[in-house]
Amino acid sequence: MSEILLQIDGKEVEAKEGMTILEAAQKAEISIPTLCHLEKLENYGACRICTVEIENRGRTQLVAACLYPVERNLVVRTRSGKIDKIRKVLLDLMLAHAPDSQALKDLAQQYGADQSRFEKEPSFCILCGLCVRYCAEVKKKNAVAFVDRGVRREISFIPEIASKECWNCKECFPLCPTSYLQAAYFLVEGLTFPPSSASVDP
Ligand code: FES
Repeated sequence: MSEILLQIDGKEVEAKEGMTILEAAQKAEISIPTLCHLEKLENYGACRICTVEIENRGRTQLVAACLYPVERNLVVRTRSGKIDKIRKVLLDLMLAHAPDSQALKDLAQQYGADQSRFEKEPSFCILCGLCVRYCAEVKKKNAVAFVDRGVRREISFIPEIASKECWNCKECFPLCPTSYLQAAYFLVEGLTFPPSSASVDP
């Protein structure tokens, strides 16, 4: 794999072909916020909080750092008025769904996001898909999945699988940026698991 030189926040960074901007930045200890990214998982690009500005061959573009591959001589800016504004609006929206999420509150403080900007619709899930993808890609169980579409889209445990697979796993719980997942699991466990299903405290 050939080495690629690019510039991130004015710093010359060396990356390997095939790396994303996020991976190159992390290697150079340049921080870019993420909510739906996990190294073990395929890149997904759901939350867009990792948006950065790139400049290549005279063109400026906003891209998701967790998806966009490094290119020779690429100039990347991880903070600017425009980027901060995008992150702020995304956080405003996500906070309307999950106002108590500590991960969101921490980022909100950094970007001046405002919990009360949008009407609250506490679904408590920001659809980052970490739980769904972790269960599918790492555990190969598919015990939790996306259901429905559009504004009704949500994650849901599949009782037939979850009652057999989740009670001694729960590896997805700490990945959830909003803690919604635990509540969803215990609800499904309480309502649908057969009485004989093994269950332990989290
Ligand atoms: Fe890049 Fe979520 S971390 S889109």
